[in-house]
Amino acid sequence: MLKISTESVGDIVLVRQGAGYFALQDKCPHADASLSEGFVEDGRVVCPLHFAEFDLLSGAVHGGPKGCPRAKAFRVEVEDGGLYLHVPEKTGACGPQHDAAHVP
Ligand code: FES
Repeated sequence: MLKISTESVGDIVLVRQGAGYFALQDKCPHADASLSEGFVEDGRVVCPLHFAEFDLLSGAVHGGPKGCPRAKAFRVEVEDGGLYLHVPEKTGACGPQHDAAHVP
């Protein structure tokens, strides 16, 4: 797991699973813990504070405190040797906006 700061969506936690990469907003939607300080188990990021589990692909929440919302998940693509984070348009215009996330 790697914490990366982006211009468009702030801090994300980047996870590599096999050949795939996944990204979630680094801030836990329950009480703002840094998800990058947690761990990955069975395709989920586990929050280090109250142990909510967030699906890597969708951000759906499993377990954890009652009422904890889902985490924001971003699609990650590998292209031309770089990683690209797909960020939804705020304006509602069509087409994905790309934000490059460079992994050291
Ligand atoms: S801060 Fe993450 S589950 Fe409470």
